[in-house]
Amino acid sequence: MEENSRIPVHVSIIMDGNGRWAKERGQERFYGHIEGVESVRACTEEAVKKGVRYLSLFAFSEENWDRPQAEVSSLMELMVKAMVNELPAFLENGIRFIVLGNRARLDDRLNAEIDDCMQRTADCRNLSLVIFLSYSGRWDILQAAKRLAAEAAENPSGLQDIMAMSTDDFCRYMSTADIPDPDLIIRTSGELRLSNYLLWQGAYSELYFTDTLWPDFRAAEFDAALEEYAKRDRRYGKVK
Ligand code: FPP
Repeated sequence: MEENSRIPVHVSIIMDGNGRWAKERGQERFYGHIEGVESVRACTEEAVKKGVRYLSLFAFSEENWDRPQAEVSSLMELMVKAMVNELPAFLENGIRFIVLGNRARLDDRLNAEIDDCMQRTADCRNLSLVIFLSYSGRWDILQAAKRLAAEAAENPSGLQDIMAMSTDDFCRYMSTADIPDPDLIIRTSGELRLSNYLLWQGAYSELYFTDTLWPDFRAAEFDAALEEYAKRDRRYGKVK
């Protein structure tokens, strides 16, 4: 029991440094993204092994749409390919695949592949692999507020209901309503910020920063982050 409570239920990763990793090797940025998919596989396998129940990955932010068009389309292409390639492994290892984010901005083919992969893995229970795609924390809070307002407008006691709401009630409107808040947020590549990621859900997350670039972040680096997490004293603003 004591041992288990030190394994985070939900680990979330801001995968950063693919471009720099490629540049260091005199290669195009895209080479770093390809190698980054290998890190996704390695961390997913390690998360299953360690008994983590949710692994979420910041794969593409709302801000990333402003990158050069060629990089955006090749990243999207890479995601479709990775999803199709990994589906048998997801099914074999009991991995439920979930995509969250502003999916209205994704093209139809990618959305169709995502729906297919989500439906086919819906009953998998070992690990939920959550990919945040076209996601930003502010977008999530705003879409929650809009949905809440639209619902209230339909209901005579709508405003009263909103005034009586708790933060837990509001969570039901976030895109992450069905998944627990992250216990641990990891960011690779030495950047020390959240970059508009899980702003609401990360309120009490432990943060772990490493200089390792994402393509080099494999099982040993994942384990090192879990070891550091196990030493943290989580107080949620209370006195222990
Ligand atoms: C950040 O590095 C990385 C990304 C914006 C893309 C990450 C996406 C993948 C690794 C593909 C994931 C695939 C699946 C199926 C989830 P960067 O380009 O910002 O690197 P830099 O900071 O060195 O420029």
